Amino acid sequence: MDVTIENLSLHYGDFQAVKDLSLDIADGESIVMLGQSGCGKTSTMRCVAGLEEPSAGRISIGGRAVFDADAGTRVPANKRNVGLVFQSYAVWPHLTVLENVAFPLRMQKVAKAQLREKALTTLRTVGLEDQADKSASALSGGQMQRVALARSLAMEPAIMLLDEPLSNLDARLRDDLRVELRRLQLDLGLTSIYVTHDQSEALALADRVAVMQHGRIAQLARPTEIYDTPASASIAAFLGVLNIFPVQPGTGHRLVSTEHPLELVSESAGLGDVPASVSIRPEHVRVTLDRDAQVANAWEGTVGVTVFQGATTRCSVTLDAGPVVEATLAGSAVNVFHPGDRVFVQVDARDVKVLPDEVPGIVPDLPAAEAPAELVGAGQAGE
Ligand SMILES: Nc1ncnc2c1ncn2[C@@H]1O[C@H](COP(=O)(O)OP(=O)(O)O)[C@@H](O)[C@H]1O
Ligand SMILES: [Mg+2]
Repeated sequence: MDVTIENLSLHYGDFQAVKDLSLDIADGESIVMLGQSGCGKTSTMRCVAGLEEPSAGRISIGGRAVFDADAGTRVPANKRNVGLVFQSYAVWPHLTVLENVAFPLRMQKVAKAQLREKALTTLRTVGLEDQADKSASALSGGQMQRVALARSLAMEPAIMLLDEPLSNLDARLRDDLRVELRRLQLDLGLTSIYVTHDQSEALALADRVAVMQHGRIAQLARPTEIYDTPASASIAAFLGVLNIFPVQPGTGHRLVSTEHPLELVSESAGLGDVPASVSIRPEHVRVTLDRDAQVANAWEGTVGVTVFQGATTRCSVTLDAGPVVEATLAGSAVNVFHPGDRVFVQVDARDVKVLPDEVPGIVPDLPAAEAPAELVGAGQAGE
């Protein structure tokens, strides 16, 4: 079912954790809320679930208002028909796997004859049907999380809310379960809100990613767009772009670093007085022994370290101008470049992106006592 969040705000005392947030989620869509710890992901999700009382706004699920501050609508959590899966394995260890999944069905007064059948069907969906009669305490972390998932799915919720469900699992299992979750989402046509601070998880699981910063959605777009065109330098940095250089004000295509005597040529123009940086993905950086006259940017430097990563080699070069540039090269490059080698670092103008440092309207939460007066005023005026 579709979900509409309009002008949602949530306060914890004086602190505003969610700020005038609006988001439309289509039926069957998977939205991933991605952001640093403390940016308000869990708070937003808990508002949708009915576990927090927002201070303003409206939320509807499948066209039905479940919260409306103005109209006084407050549908309790257990009447919203949302499935929840959290980071901790909320599995009852003294019950069997099947009993865990059947428990909420029993609460829903599903007839006894259908109970086992229905629970088994759901266990099959998550690949646990052969574990049905095992004690839940005998399961691995990954299996427990599947049980938690099955228990939510068995209730045929209108939407699924998942809050960092894979964070407690080891890397290998996390990758496997991530692929499986995506398959489930697509097979079942689940409408879901998935919360994570892990960018690769977000890119893998989302139809659209909502990048959250300081209680607001800073960017809402498909994974490929988020990856290729982050809306700000701070989002690019969060996504793991390593080469980000603040630049001086200007509107030309030759941008000058604020920190080093370094000029960068970009296909895009400077943003005038808007604080901006250039961002260069490591995979767009070429390291060469000779200068290619065709390439717009060619800086001389010295190789620092090369790290073999299998398919790729990560190579850090300290430019003569000062900054360190990180490059991701073909794996074999580890045999070509060695610490101390003199090289050229080359980047095409189209791969030098000019980004505003922050998305307009995204203001860091400073403790009231430390915030400059005009910033506090501006924040309040906008809300
Ligand atoms: N119950 C609470 N009381 C007071 N502050 C809270 C409470 N829960 C969360 N916060 C604060 O609200 C902000 C957002 O928290 P949260 O939504 O949990 O972030 P995220 O899930 O993105 O890590 C954080 O600064 C956090 O400290
Ligand atoms: Mg959280």
